[in-house]
Amino acid sequence: MKRRAVDGGQPVRTKPFPRWPHYDDEEMQEIVEALRAGPWSAGSPKIRLFEEEFASFHQTKFGIACSSGSVALFISLKAIGIGPGDQVIIPAYTFLATATAVIDTGATPVIVDIDPNTYNIDPAAAEKAITAKTKCIIPVHLAGCPADMDAVQTLAEKHGLHVIEDAAQAHGAEWKGRKAGSMGTMAGFSFYQSKNMAAGEGGIITTNDEKLASLARSLVNVGRDVEKGWYEHVRYGWNYRMTAFQAAVLRAQLRRLPQMNAKRAKAAEYLSTQLAQIDGIDPMPKPPEVTAHSYHLFIVRVQPSKFGFQTKEQLVKAVNAEGIPCNAGYKPLNSYPFIAEKSQTPSPVSVAEKASKQEALWIPQYVLLGEKDDLDDVVEAFQKLRQAAET
Ligand SMILES: Cc1ncc(COP(=O)(O)O)c(C=O)c1O
Repeated sequence: MKRRAVDGGQPVRTKPFPRWPHYDDEEMQEIVEALRAGPWSAGSPKIRLFEEEFASFHQTKFGIACSSGSVALFISLKAIGIGPGDQVIIPAYTFLATATAVIDTGATPVIVDIDPNTYNIDPAAAEKAITAKTKCIIPVHLAGCPADMDAVQTLAEKHGLHVIEDAAQAHGAEWKGRKAGSMGTMAGFSFYQSKNMAAGEGGIITTNDEKLASLARSLVNVGRDVEKGWYEHVRYGWNYRMTAFQAAVLRAQLRRLPQMNAKRAKAAEYLSTQLAQIDGIDPMPKPPEVTAHSYHLFIVRVQPSKFGFQTKEQLVKAVNAEGIPCNAGYKPLNSYPFIAEKSQTPSPVSVAEKASKQEALWIPQYVLLGEKDDLDDVVEAFQKLRQAAET
């Protein structure tokens, strides 16, 4: 029997996985063009082209580039008029920014539980949390798996709510052939360096509503009106603009996205089949309505005890020691005191707690860009730990 790397044995793998962010001559050429032609920010044709290309790829009419995914959510909420006294329903298992975007408008996030089979918002829990003050719901397409948008939209129509999609992890993902970012009133994507489309930092808002698009464009540009002069601000706003260099990189990243997501999806299918054979690992299923999963994360549900560990953190450490990148993922939003004091959690979020404390293990997307041999190392690492636990 092989000794575990955490106990001083040889790791399964010592080679790195494919480097992320990935770039090639296309990014180089785009950046040099942006540098030479200018302008480097407002008025850059690179930014305009990227907005049009991204929006069109995501089946929406408008794209408004901005400085981050957090900003994209905040500005979307501001554009639809969310503010003090309003409530916005969000899932418990998401990145902090889903909550802070709401809090920064002066509104109250109402945190609800998630579905155990997707870790996305549980529509039944969301419906129970609706009050007269609820104005909006934010489904998060966690890991690149779209939330149940049929249920979310039915709920929104029934109760007259806006839907803002948190598509930060869902570039190119689809629910029944409809692209993430095209189904709500507005949506926010992120281009942080770990994301499936990366520019170091950056974000974009997508929408089909022309008025909201021009309002969002004004809000990220210090409240300017494009028709008016530079110092003729018409409303309160912020400088949340994207630079031409980010847009240049992102044009190249967008062209490569379909091919890269296809590779991730194929790898995820292979890994799911292989890992499902190991007692103690249950890969997250892909709902049949999800016609494209962007696999920003490959999530498996684990039973640490089957691998000889008391906690998930110990298992994560052991898998890492075998040379496989993975992490323990989010904590429920309401577990952060500074979020809890500014939000409401009307019912227990036990599925999110279980995911966080016991079950969810995240493998980052770049692992899925490896070849079969690389993926086999992932499987071998879990097999090795399982065998070590049995003997
Ligand atoms: C689900 C989710 N929402 C929002 C964000 C915020 O995006 P950014 O980091 O670009 O501000 C992220 C990214 O980290 C995310 O994963």
